[in-house]
Amino acid sequence: MSEIRFFSGESVPLEMHKVRMVQKVNLLPVEKRLNCIIDAGFNTFLLKNRDVFLDMLTDSGVNAMSTDQYAAMMQADDSYAGSETFYRLEKALQDLFGMKYFLPAHQGRACENIISKTLVKPKSTALMNYHFTTTKAHILLMGGYVEEIVGDGGLVVQSSEPFKGDIDISKLNEAIKRIGTDKISFVRIEAGTNLIGGQPVSVHNIREVSQICRKSGIKLIFDASLLADNLYFIKMRESEYKNTEIVEIIREIASLFDIIYFSGRKLGAARGGGILTSDDELFIKMREFVPLYEGFLTYGGMSVREMEAMAVGLRETTDIDVISQTPVFVEALSNMLHSKGIPVVLPPGGLGCHLDAKQFCSHIPQTQYPAGALAAALYIAGGIRGMERGTISEQRNEDGSDHPAEMELVRLALPKRVFTLSQIKYTTDRIEWLYKNRSIIGGLKFIEEPKVLRFFFGRLSPANNWHKELTQQFRNDFGDSL
Ligand SMILES: Cc1ncc(COP(=O)(O)O)c(C=O)c1O
Repeated sequence: MSEIRFFSGESVPLEMHKVRMVQKVNLLPVEKRLNCIIDAGFNTFLLKNRDVFLDMLTDSGVNAMSTDQYAAMMQADDSYAGSETFYRLEKALQDLFGMKYFLPAHQGRACENIISKTLVKPKSTALMNYHFTTTKAHILLMGGYVEEIVGDGGLVVQSSEPFKGDIDISKLNEAIKRIGTDKISFVRIEAGTNLIGGQPVSVHNIREVSQICRKSGIKLIFDASLLADNLYFIKMRESEYKNTEIVEIIREIASLFDIIYFSGRKLGAARGGGILTSDDELFIKMREFVPLYEGFLTYGGMSVREMEAMAVGLRETTDIDVISQTPVFVEALSNMLHSKGIPVVLPPGGLGCHLDAKQFCSHIPQTQYPAGALAAALYIAGGIRGMERGTISEQRNEDGSDHPAEMELVRLALPKRVFTLSQIKYTTDRIEWLYKNRSIIGGLKFIEEPKVLRFFFGRLSPANNWHKELTQQFRNDFGDSL
């Protein structure tokens, strides 16, 4: 993709695929969008997809699948135990990661449940570059703690650091000394660090962390859900790997971990997940939980059709044209917005473009959830569904107080090969309008708040009438346009 230059000199994120199946989308008039977001309790998770024009909520389970993936689904071997499909998927994973064992699970968080049940003791600490919502919830549920040791630069919204997901080695050494190895459940590295803007981790950093963990006898776990984007950044930004085959990079990374897990909804562009290890003891311990929570060992809660698609999708992860599509589109969207003075996370990461709501809505205090408000406002402005990744996505502290997030982001996920350049331009246009009218956007407050993972189905209401004012302003500026 990056090797095709335009005569005009323009930088265009050119698609290296053609569209062979489409889904109609619908853009409702702004007044209807207003009603929909009110009905959804100002939570974009609660919108109905039929009311959404561009669904940028997530890439999870909504990446476009290839013709080869669909073809593979037809050979699925539907049997409860010993399905041929399982062995094909197991082989694809072993070829890619070079690990001995594969335990199937129905999605990424199911792997986190199994790993936490196996390794997290009450009052133990899991060290990690940064948490993911479901990861943290599972560790807390087992009575453990989470401590983040990402480099300080990872939390700086705009910088030129190429690997903002890297662990700070001095923080790691300090934490091991302070906590003690026997009180550390594991160290976890998340590829394409989701909550800080899809930021990558370098192989160099993984190697250093692995050496320390091995020396200290601490288990090292890799969340490979966002590995595809991360691999692209390693190829582009880590000079040592510029000419290394993608599969070799994967193998080298895998050799540095005790356990690897992934959400197949992200890695492999199908729906499922799994855990990999070469450690006999860990395998036996984790295996017990699979039939209990997931399903028999040869399907783990997944449909065999999805498993066939996943095997092909995993192999396609070694194709630079496949793994570059999302990061190149994220870069295009982020750069278009940045050139208009709109605050976004830079350098652009994988997964999606991230708006910095702290700057975008600097007039909204964190106690009134600026990222949640901005996500709701963007739906009103353009029928675009993003996801709040800020304080609403955090769990309350033990004393019941809100836990202010370090970053207040609205994530506009770009699932692989789903959106076109004109849809990206439309998104930029509506965000630019919203930025010009940002003073209208007001805060939110909870009216219904679940205890765990409240962002999924919590309901909120606006602090004043800002939602109606924004709708009226849209009408004034856009006339009868949708
Ligand atoms: C980094 C990361 N880990 C784990 C998960 C959980 O995976 P799943 O949604 O398949 O349960 C996700 C999902 O978004 C993720 O981004």
